[in-house]
Amino acid sequence: MSPAPNDAPPLLEVRGLVKHFGIKSGALGRISSSVRAVDGVDFEVGQGETLAIVGESGCGKSTVGRLVLRLIEPTAGEVRFEGDNLLALDQDQMRARRRRLQVIFQDPYASLNPRMTVGAMLGEPLWLHRLVGNQKQRNERVAELLELVGLRPDHARRYPHEFSGGQRQRIAIARALAVEPRLIVADEPVSALDVSIQAQVINLMRALQKRFGLAYIFISHDLAVVKHIADRIAVMYLGRIVETATADELFRNPRHPYTRALLSAVPLPDPTAVRERALLEGDIPSAVNPPSGCHFHTRCPFARESCKVDVPQLVTEFAPDGTPHATACPWWRELPPAKILIDGVQQEQDRIRLDRLQAAFVSQTEAT
Ligand SMILES: Nc1ncnc2c1ncn2[C@@H]1O[C@H](COP(=O)(O)OP(=O)(O)OP(=O)(O)O)[C@@H](O)[C@H]1O
Ligand code: SF4
Ligand SMILES: [Mg+2]
Repeated sequence: MSPAPNDAPPLLEVRGLVKHFGIKSGALGRISSSVRAVDGVDFEVGQGETLAIVGESGCGKSTVGRLVLRLIEPTAGEVRFEGDNLLALDQDQMRARRRRLQVIFQDPYASLNPRMTVGAMLGEPLWLHRLVGNQKQRNERVAELLELVGLRPDHARRYPHEFSGGQRQRIAIARALAVEPRLIVADEPVSALDVSIQAQVINLMRALQKRFGLAYIFISHDLAVVKHIADRIAVMYLGRIVETATADELFRNPRHPYTRALLSAVPLPDPTAVRERALLEGDIPSAVNPPSGCHFHTRCPFARESCKVDVPQLVTEFAPDGTPHATACPWWRELPPAKILIDGVQQEQDRIRLDRLQAAFVSQTEAT
């Protein structure tokens, strides 16, 4: 995949990452087949950068996140973080790295202990990693963390169920921040929230990124949300990255037929403009037995015979603005220009949704 856009060494480098989950069947529970959840993925994340990973449900986004965090072991590949191959570290060494590599999940309620006060929850990692020396320092740091995420110090005494969804996600962000990470894997962090709250949480994530130089891997199925936070976007389809570019370039000049189809479902901000609605036909194929050659050939309107056999490589060809843009379709230059199809009803619904989303991003209100 393309290099990160600055000259600094990448914070995270992922090479040839593969994860196959064995499926057991029969009375003896023997592994009879496997799910190819991640099928050879390469990418980098620079210091202070946001890489968004997007794609339909089941394409392997969360599995990539869990592999990077080493919550699960890969079938093959390498994950280098701050120069170290994480997969070669023993448990103690990994524990030390984990501090710098944090996670935020979609459902903050499930990831917060319902029986612990917020103060105890934020204080726990501070003790564990010896970041505070005594109770007073701990309380001060907890209060500081709560203020950083737009909550009040007295919220430390409350339990997770006393907060709204947006506030709970703020608590999850505060807990990740407590240990001063360099990279946060955020797996659909706003997908469960109402649109106006989504914007507030994303604005908060951006502000914290700027302040602390954090890098994010922002996993989402929603390109409209990703547009507001991503520096670069990697589009996944059935375990592989099919396209990667800066967010601006990807939205302006999508090359891969799958990216085009995904983008066609994102409403346009300009009410006079219309975009191709290349709706994808058919369900996403099973990752147990993915299509041969280009995984996308069963749904691609431009597929040709060779696509059933040849596995397209992710090839970088620089964008007009000089940034790297990589595409796993050798035919992208020959594809017809985007044709304009208007689906009135859907466009209207999309526009209402986009209007709400944009209004929410403009609003700086932080009261969740
Ligand atoms: N522990 C597991 N055992 C078996 N299969 C798994 C396991 N975890 C994930 N999978 C399968 O791997 C594939 C990728 O799953 P993953 O959760 O990474 O997708 P995703 O892109 O995050 O989807 P979503 O948008 O729904 O969260 C899917 O086919 C899923 O069913
Ligand atoms: S390689 Fe073939 S099937 Fe795959 S996206 Fe390109 S044209 Fe479509
Ligand atoms: Mg997921």
